[in-house]
Amino acid sequence: MPPRPLPSALSPFLDLLRCPRCGQRVDEADGSLRCPSRHTYDVARGGYASLLTGVSPTSGDDDEMARARDRFLGSGAYAPILETIAAAVGMAGCAPDPTMLDVGCGTGYYLAGVLDALPGARGLGLDTSTRALRFAARAHERAAAASWDVFAPFPLTDGSVDVMLDVFAPRNPEQFARVLRPDGVLVVVRPTARHLAELLAQVPGSIGVDPAKEERLHRALDPFFDEVREDLVEYVVDLDGAQAQDLIAMTPSARHTDLSRGTDSTVSTTVSVLVSGYRRRA
Ligand SMILES: C[S@@+](CC[C@H](N)C(=O)[O-])C[C@H]1O[C@@H](n2cnc3c(N)ncnc32)[C@H](O)[C@@H]1O
Ligand SMILES: [Zn+2]
Repeated sequence: MPPRPLPSALSPFLDLLRCPRCGQRVDEADGSLRCPSRHTYDVARGGYASLLTGVSPTSGDDDEMARARDRFLGSGAYAPILETIAAAVGMAGCAPDPTMLDVGCGTGYYLAGVLDALPGARGLGLDTSTRALRFAARAHERAAAASWDVFAPFPLTDGSVDVMLDVFAPRNPEQFARVLRPDGVLVVVRPTARHLAELLAQVPGSIGVDPAKEERLHRALDPFFDEVREDLVEYVVDLDGAQAQDLIAMTPSARHTDLSRGTDSTVSTTVSVLVSGYRRRA
């Protein structure tokens, strides 16, 4: 059988992808990615590049979490968060045809939404979850996806990214600073202590936001970035039983909760997140 062609959204990223093992550039070879030293990376049937090889990752969403995330975000309940992220990117006045990187992209909902707002942009989502990456790889015609662990050096050239998103995902400030262009913008989204409080109160064994997390974020980013903008997105959302179940299933609480005891009636809950824009320190 002839090799599958590379997904069209992946090809434009060949100029900035680097071989995770030796750092040389990678090119298309027989439907895979290969560097001059013949290190080879498959492109999965699901459309994402498998750059993470060897040991299977210990973190990342499983199948049910990724499906729940896709259903929940598709309901539009977090659209105000997406709008604020797009505004933070737009206000930053980034390059005309920006290169975007979404770290811990999940199903690609935010990457696709910002690509919609930036017609000339191209986007790459990184995640350890192959289930989530299957969604991300088809989230938008200009969105590519690759498996990668945020805690490892990114398989990308220095200063190659104009817009970087990190939405409810783990962070690696040193790598963020290395791959972001000097005039690029980093947007970080994280929950406040009020996020989903009413919903989580109904779920035995659920876990809330650690109040020290915010301070840890600032301490970690401070050596590399200046915060130039911060928006609080806070509103009450009415969830039906299915949305509430999906929301619980896609949070870290899912791993600590017997879902059968979860809510099946409607619930109103507060959505409360901070959206910050950062510039690289000179
Ligand atoms: C809470 S979800 C957020 C996903 C997406 N940004 C969103 O908001 O819809 C966290 C994501 O980070 C991914 N993740 C967890 N650990 C990771 C790691 N070490 N490297 C890359 N991604 C990771 C998970 O698989 C999951 O998709
Ligand atoms: Zn190599």
